[in-house]
Amino acid sequence: MSYAGNPLVILVGVLMLHSGSAENEPSIDSSDHLIIPGGYHIPPITLQCNLTVSQTPHSESFWMKNGEEIEETRSDAKNTEYRINKPRADDAGEYMCVYTFDSAPQANATIEVKAAPDITGHKRSENKNEGETAVLYCKSVGYPYPQWTWRKLDSGANPEIDNSSRRFFISSRDGYTELSIINLDLTSDPGEYECNATNTISSASMTSVLRVRSYLAPLWPLLGVLAEIIILVLIIVIYEKRKKPDDMPDDDEPAGPMKTNSTNNHKDKNLRQRNTN
Ligand SMILES: *[C@@H]1O[C@H](CO)[C@@H](O)[C@H](O)[C@H]1NC(C)=O
Ligand SMILES: *[C@@H]1O[C@H](CO)[C@@H](O)[C@H](O)[C@H]1NC(C)=O
Ligand SMILES: *[C@@H]1O[C@H](CO)[C@@H](O)[C@H](O)[C@H]1NC(C)=O
Ligand SMILES: *[C@@H]1O[C@H](CO)[C@@H](O)[C@H](O)[C@H]1NC(C)=O
Repeated sequence: MSYAGNPLVILVGVLMLHSGSAENEPSIDSSDHLIIPGGYHIPPITLQCNLTVSQTPHSESFWMKNGEEIEETRSDAKNTEYRINKPRADDAGEYMCVYTFDSAPQANATIEVKAAPDITGHKRSENKNEGETAVLYCKSVGYPYPQWTWRKLDSGANPEIDNSSRRFFISSRDGYTELSIINLDLTSDPGEYECNATNTISSASMTSVLRVRSYLAPLWPLLGVLAEIIILVLIIVIYEKRKKPDDMPDDDEPAGPMKTNSTNNHKDKNLRQRNTN
């Protein structure tokens, strides 16, 4: 039997390691993790860190959120606070107080501020032609960052996206997800798509409408113009044809007497001819 697998041996080892390192490391008392409730008029939140033990005097402290320094939080106080006056889901994240030392590595404590996901942006609708690519997205605030899923509504018993056609691609990172559908199909793809953000607190979802037009759709305006031209030409032709018989008498009127003259002349000629006969 080996000692390596013995839980007691491991526990003692961990304790020794912990006490060994705690001797010369600064110690920070920090506020507990907390959850920003949903709704309006949430009371202000104050995050606190107290530097309780340090071997060397510290030089500065500051606050970070999600790995980035929050501006204007640097001070030389041992006890430091960060106040969120009107907490919203957007304020949720991983907060950290950091103490710097002149002659030691910096020390920090993490306070998680959690909130239910809230979808703050999404594509309401997408209009594409068949064969093209549609891209739908949703973005959220809230922490921890959600697990994202997409489904197609009104698609029978199994609304999970059916990727048997291998045309669906989902890419998600932190508070953002994107669904791409390539080579759009006129019959199976149009409909409502729902993104769902789920974290340890709660979940949220939003829907987008995808419309797919046929290949011919872009030609319709052109066909419309062509149809207009054809109709216009037909109207002109018909009008011209109708106009001609009406115009004939107008042309004949001034020619009338001349014609009678000529017939008269003709008659005269005939008469003369008859006379000569
Ligand atoms: C930090 O110290 C202040 C007073 O010195 C105390 O009121 C507060 O509760 C302490 N905070 C934490 C997180 O220990
Ligand atoms: C916070 O402390 C950990 C070790 O406790 C260290 O690895 C990390 O780099 C520190 N982060 C910052 C921003 O100081
Ligand atoms: C759909 O199938 C393609 C090809 O196999 C794959 O690359 C893609 O990740 C799949 N998408 C989803 C949402 O499963
Ligand atoms: C999101 O998906 C989860 C897991 O399927 C489900 O429990 C939850 O009700 C969905 N949330 C919404 C808002 O539709």
